[in-house]
Formats: sequence, C-alpha cells, structure tokens
Amino acid sequence: MKPPTPTSYLLLAPLAIILLVFVLRPPSRASSDGLGALCARRAGFADVAVAPPAEASPSPSEPAQPEPDFSLLVGVLTMPSRRERRDIVRMAYALQPPAARARVDVRFVFCSVTDPVDAALLAVEARRHGDVVVLDCAENMNDGKTYAYLSSVPRLFESRPYDYVMKTDDDTYLRVAALAEELRGRPREDVYLGYGYAMGGQPMPFMHGMGYVVSWDVASWVAGADEILARNDTLGPEDLMVGKWLNLAGRGRNRYDLKPRMYDLSWDMDNFRPDTVAVHMLKDNRRWAAAFRYFNVTAGIEPSDLYHLP
Ligand SMILES: *[C@@H]1O[C@H](CO)[C@@H](O)[C@H](O)[C@H]1NC(C)=O
Ligand SMILES: *[C@@H]1O[C@H](CO)[C@@H](O)[C@H](O)[C@H]1NC(C)=O
Repeated sequence: MKPPTPTSYLLLAPLAIILLVFVLRPPSRASSDGLGALCARRAGFADVAVAPPAEASPSPSEPAQPEPDFSLLVGVLTMPSRRERRDIVRMAYALQPPAARARVDVRFVFCSVTDPVDAALLAVEARRHGDVVVLDCAENMNDGKTYAYLSSVPRLFESRPYDYVMKTDDDTYLRVAALAEELRGRPREDVYLGYGYAMGGQPMPFMHGMGYVVSWDVASWVAGADEILARNDTLGPEDLMVGKWLNLAGRGRNRYDLKPRMYDLSWDMDNFRPDTVAVHMLKDNRRWAAAFRYFNVTAGIEPSDLYHLP
C-alpha cells in the first residue's frame, strides 16, 4: 500500500474528527436504541434522555457476574421535582445486595422536562448517575405515563432486551434479590406478576401499582396494541388500566400474586416482614428511615471516629 498523499490526509481529516467525537463520547443509549428519536422533538434534551452509565459509579445491581439466568429492567416512575426522594430511593437500590445471576438495571423514568431549571439539574443528575430515562409524554400519574413507559421500553432497549420489565414508584422499597428469586423459576413469557388486586369476585384482575412485572413479550405487545389508544385506555388509574388491556387481549396469563410479600406499610409502621419483596407507602423520610432500620441498611455502616451513627 502506498503512503497516503497530502490530499488524502485532507480528505481523511473530517472522518477523523467524526471518529474522535464518537470515541470521546461515552456510549450513549440515545444513539443506539431510538430514544434520541423519541425526544428529538425536544431539541437539546436528547442527551438527557438516557444517560450513559456513569463510569465512576457502576450500578451495584449490575455485578460482574457471568451468564445471568435472566434480566430485569426496573423503571421507577418519578418526577424532576422529587429530587430528595429520588436520592433516598437511589441509595436504597445501591446499598442492596445484588441479585444473584441476574442482570438488573434500575432506571428513573420521567416524562418530558419542560422547566429549564429542572432540565439543567436533571442533565447533571443523568451525567452523574447514568440511570435516567426521559419519555416523550407530559408529566402525569394517571394520564398515560405507564403506557408511555411500557410501550417505549421495547424500542429504547431493542439492542439489549430484557426478559422482564417492571414498573414501580418512588414510594416503594423493592428488594431486588428477593424479587429475582421469585422470577428465576417462572416462565419468561406472558408473565404479569405483582400484588394481585381482587375485584369483582376475581382473585387478581390487575396488579397493584406499587410495582409489577411483565415479560418482554407483553411489553412488546403493549407497544404495538393500537386498540389501547383507540379505546383511550391510557387514561385512568394506571394499574387498573394495565390489567384491563391484558384481560381484554388475553395476555399476561402467567399471573403471580406476591401477596403477602408485597404490601403497604401500615400507619404504625409495624408490619415489616423479613421476606419482603416490596413495601409500599413510604411517603415520607420517617417511613424510609424505618425501612432502612428494619432491613439493616443502617447497620452496615463502618465504625469510625468521624461519626456516631445511628
Ligand atoms: C377518546 O378521547 C378523545 C379526546 O378526548 C375523544 O374525542 C374520543 O371520542 C375518545 N374515544 C373513545 C373511544 O372514547
Ligand atoms: C437484621 O439484623 C438482625 C441482627 O443481626 C437480624 O436478627 C434480622 O433478622 C435482620 N433483619 C433482616 C430483615 O434481615
């Protein structure tokens, strides 16, 4: 091969710059799995959409384990303004023992961020933690956010699908390892698992919104089910509506009720159980503190002369 002429160097220069940009840029899911497109309408927000996992702080729920039996995406639906709560929830996940032989990724899920202050702070949060997903929807609780989440996930994570997709909230303490043990022996398809809610004589027509899992095929079905939109079935109590979609379509037939291991924390905070999969109604710091104490998260602190806790 003859050495490149000065002209070909010139031609290569723009290519080199492009390559450099790609190499210097942390691997962003936004470029590979379509979220960029999702948020493209909101110019400038695509970079916030799915941040690359922060190099310095690998998620403890992604242990370097060979060959996981299955994978689970946990989406915690939250809002930009709930920064303090998110900080607590993030620690709650980070300080858990990792699930054995399972790939579990926890992501905080937002609708479009319109306020410029929120957008800047969330961009920084996304850079730091790399666990943020911003969907193309208006921030809401019962106005289609769950639909936006479940229907976007198959496309957003197309390049590296999960076996299961979970929706949960920022007032739920989820014990990932306990959930993983529940999932390990289950089917990987047509699954709908959570706190089964009894209604109209049926044992579990839907799973309570504190946290439920569907298999990837169910999420993919939701993404393509125009009938849900045609019936305006994205509006209304989100957990009940998910049950309705699946019931009408005969989906999610592998239903598993994790009561009593999933439950609401009582007013007196006296019903924690050692075999908890998820405890809900952690609506203030006092209740989170009680959960951290009960589950021995506080007990893990190293002795030190620098503090006297707890
Ligand atoms: C869905 O909502 C739209 C807007 O509110 C309304 O025009 C339409 O009639 C509704 N469709 C059904 C099937 O209820
Ligand atoms: C917390 O630690 C105590 C003392 O070691 C133990 O008895 C208890 O079972 C632990 N609680 C949980 C939920 O693991």
